[in-house]
Amino acid sequence: MLKTHKLAIIGLGHVGSAVLARAIACQLAAEIVCIDIKPEVAHGEAVDATHSIACALTPNVHVYSGGFEEVKDADVIICAAGPSILPGGVMDRLTLAKENIAVIRSIMTEVTKYTREAVFIMITNPLDVTTHVAATEFGYPEGRLFGTGTTLETLRFKSILGAHYHVDPTDVQGYMLGEHGNSAFPAWSTVSIGGVPLEKLDDFFEHEEGFDCEKVGGEVVNTAYDVLNSKGWTNTGIAMGACRLAKAVLYDEHAVLPVSMPFSGEYGIEDVSLSLPSVIGKEGVLKRVPLPLPAEEEDALRKSAKSVKAVLRGNGV
Ligand code: LAC
Repeated sequence: MLKTHKLAIIGLGHVGSAVLARAIACQLAAEIVCIDIKPEVAHGEAVDATHSIACALTPNVHVYSGGFEEVKDADVIICAAGPSILPGGVMDRLTLAKENIAVIRSIMTEVTKYTREAVFIMITNPLDVTTHVAATEFGYPEGRLFGTGTTLETLRFKSILGAHYHVDPTDVQGYMLGEHGNSAFPAWSTVSIGGVPLEKLDDFFEHEEGFDCEKVGGEVVNTAYDVLNSKGWTNTGIAMGACRLAKAVLYDEHAVLPVSMPFSGEYGIEDVSLSLPSVIGKEGVLKRVPLPLPAEEEDALRKSAKSVKAVLRGNGV
């Protein structure tokens, strides 16, 4: 049943327009407003989406464009504004920090003129940096603003493991954690398929030869760059990941998903935002799940924290 909710999408580039299409297809809201620094782009995407609704494959969603005042009664805001890394460039989202911290501060200044009630889902990269700035500098209630984080890496991780073991990727349990970026790591201690623990997977499932756990983490990180350098950007995976999170909020699902928000001492880490499994519902992050991790995974998490913190401090945050 379509919920009478309102979704606001800020930034209608490749990612934001993909979020729009999937939000309609997934029946996330009865009303969607498109907001962009170029109003004509927001207008064009809204009108284009409206034409798509006329084919009756989706409910009759009201899609329109507007200014920041339109977030005042939004239930969820998804922010995909700002530039992305480019094909052939430096393959590190952290290089976008200076420019996109300024973009996000500008957006949060406008948004918080009208609301601190809407659950705010950040996509803009470098994701953990922009999430930390937005979550700590504008008086947003704790948990009500979070980033897509390693939800996307985890989708990629599940796809790779599902293909290796010839199973539906949605039946792979487990997470990529830490930074949405080059220091993201597979939390192998969390991995199982159909209740079978990692160490027994080869005994129960057909599998490809030559599966090297050590290489999978790098494969997950690098597959993003393969997509970027092949098609020029990434958008489909992140858009669906963001819509998955928005659905958990709008339907108050209490779903457990790995998202980024400020740490408050978990594993002795603070003053940085990274991804941990979190219970997601109508108020945003309802509870963080700092699950027990073996030493090597805790070390990887601290490595992510050090990498993101260095960029935060380097940009005066
Ligand atoms: C990616 C972008 C969203 O990993 O950072 O596809």
